[in-house]
Amino acid sequence: MDTGITDKTYQHWHLEQDEENFVWLHLDKADSSTNTLSEAVLTELEDALNHLHRQPPHGLVICSAKKNGFIAGADIREFTHFESQPAALDAIQRGQRVFNLLETIDCPTLALIHGYCLGGGLEMALACRYRIAEDSPETRLGLPEVRLGIHPGFGGTVRALEAAGPLIALNIMLTGRSFSARAAKKMRLVHYAVPQRHLLNAARSMLRNPPKQAPLPWWLKILNHRLLRPWIAKYMLRSVAKKAARAHYPAPYALIDLWQRYADDREQMLREEAVSVANLLVGKTAQNLIRVFNLQETLKERGRKGEREQENKPKYVHVIGGGVMGGDIAAWCALQGYQVSIQDREHETLGRVIQRAFGLYRKRLKKPRLISTTLDRLMPDLPGHALARADVVIEAIFEDAGIKQQLFREIEPQMKADALLCTNTSSIPLETLAEVLEKPERLVGLHFFNPVAKMPLIEIVRGQNSTEENVQRASAFAKSLSRLPLPVTSSPGFLVNRVLMPYLIEAVILAEEGVPLKVIDEEAVDFGMPMGPIELADTVGLDICLKVADILSQNMDISVPERLRTLVDRGQLGKKTGQGFYSFKKGKPIKTAANKDYIPPVDLQERLILRMVNEVIACLRDGVVETADLADAGIIFGTGFAPFRGGPMHYLQDRGAQQVYKMLEQLQQRYGQRFAPDAGWQPWLEQEEGNG
Ligand code: COA
Repeated sequence: MDTGITDKTYQHWHLEQDEENFVWLHLDKADSSTNTLSEAVLTELEDALNHLHRQPPHGLVICSAKKNGFIAGADIREFTHFESQPAALDAIQRGQRVFNLLETIDCPTLALIHGYCLGGGLEMALACRYRIAEDSPETRLGLPEVRLGIHPGFGGTVRALEAAGPLIALNIMLTGRSFSARAAKKMRLVHYAVPQRHLLNAARSMLRNPPKQAPLPWWLKILNHRLLRPWIAKYMLRSVAKKAARAHYPAPYALIDLWQRYADDREQMLREEAVSVANLLVGKTAQNLIRVFNLQETLKERGRKGEREQENKPKYVHVIGGGVMGGDIAAWCALQGYQVSIQDREHETLGRVIQRAFGLYRKRLKKPRLISTTLDRLMPDLPGHALARADVVIEAIFEDAGIKQQLFREIEPQMKADALLCTNTSSIPLETLAEVLEKPERLVGLHFFNPVAKMPLIEIVRGQNSTEENVQRASAFAKSLSRLPLPVTSSPGFLVNRVLMPYLIEAVILAEEGVPLKVIDEEAVDFGMPMGPIELADTVGLDICLKVADILSQNMDISVPERLRTLVDRGQLGKKTGQGFYSFKKGKPIKTAANKDYIPPVDLQERLILRMVNEVIACLRDGVVETADLADAGIIFGTGFAPFRGGPMHYLQDRGAQQVYKMLEQLQQRYGQRFAPDAGWQPWLEQEEGNG
């Protein structure tokens, strides 16, 4: 029987009805590489579902026509447009209404999933009676809303709890982590995980003989009982509190509260879910985290631009220098699919590189077959034979201009004519290094952060000679390593180290003044930093901190605290030697509690944070980064600066430039010149005055 659905034409959905009277709704969001649930997409779906409610087919399949995946969630770009809580609530309730329509249609419904199935995408799939996911490494499912400062709002909390039980459902919503098709099957979030070649047959046969829905086993269901919920909620709140403060990240707390209070009543929980998300969505945390998502997209776009403009994609990477940075860069490049050679003067060093790489691959890849194929791509190359075929050469040797220049002299004649030469220097001007090159335009800085496998940012350093084309190539290369490229100019410390250093130095000055180390770190963590500055310095290595500080002090108005130098002289370098500012036990710092009646200085947090903010202003004045947004992106992804605050420049604007400026002046009066507001403040003060 013809449902008449194919008479309809939509901009974002393609409709098909087959001979078995199954209707296929293919989502292919117009003018977009990725499917998201924008208002327009939902409006069309609502129309189609209303039609199918009147004339139900024998089965309904929802799938995606995009190669990269099913649906990447609600359209985050629309999240910033809400002017008030009621407006946000209206949009969320509307999404719920559409998914309720899908859930109540009088025929078997099935979501056929490949690639990304995130947020609203998984919520939509959960509103279908059945879910089949392609069993491939590209398939990733998840409910990552908490990372945007919200939780699922289109009925996803209710349906995830019903499908997987509270422990699993809350865990995936609280962590926001994504998982494979097989893991989703194990968690009961999909019914089958099948290889691509069986997907269509599996869908058809499920619709022909719709299996009975298996109820949740009693031991999972019972955890939803109203007498048990307060206990489980208490335990979950405790573990959430260890990771995120309620004042900074309210979403996980709101989610636990929602479940604890309303899990007995489906209808009420749906209503309250929408209210809760609307409240969160218009709050500062969510808006700032959405800003961070957009900043991340801006950096990715830099890399994509480079990719589009490059004719030949690099295949072979040659890394010179098997120290921790060089070795980890090589291991990471191989993990990302490149054919990599790693050159060093010593066998032992290369052995350690492979050992570390093995550890990383074992953790990330788990399966022995994948580990060994990845290790096969990482080739120790003592004599440097592979240099001649490399498309990208990365230098990561000892931080000494003369030695690096000597190396460049030796390797340039052996390199392919069009190979890109990158240096991982963190302090030497590119112009100095480029002096010895025949083709100075091919040199670009590729400044990775430690640990390479964890830090998402790479500073792409443009020297005076680097051509735009090569900067683009380097950005594209960084993007291909699943890293975010941040363009910066070649100046001491670039952006991230330059901004971080005054903050670390201020922390050491505070320690010299007698403020307990634990108190200093706690104040920074209270502000939202992932780790306190003293622990950070110990973790990075005090010798490295001292070296960077010494280099920066040649150009910046910073004086290196004596205590830092003394510790380094004594060989107390931090975590790696077991003793720095802190003593370390099993890799963890032993933090002694402050005396009970100790009262920290009232301006402690201001002293730490405003030195950072002042330095960002200085970087913008010097043109180290192009825009305030890029500065925010760099500092968030390079240092972990409190993401819920939206970046240092956003924080400054949010608090009021005038107010922060005055605070700096007060600190200058109290503590001296190092707090003098930078000359670059003027435009920000004027902008604020202009805004009224
Ligand atoms: N809303 C709006 N746009 C989105 C989006 C979303 N939920 N998810 C992805 N996009 C867009 C990106 O902005 C980008 O747009 P562009 O091509 O115009 O620049 C495009 O989709 C591709 O995304 P990109 O991030 O560049 O691709 P990727 O392969 O590196 O990553 C994802 C893909 C899906 C993992 C990543 O985009 C992501 O994490 N998205 C957010 C998922 C999410 O939080 N969903 C819940 C929303 S409530």
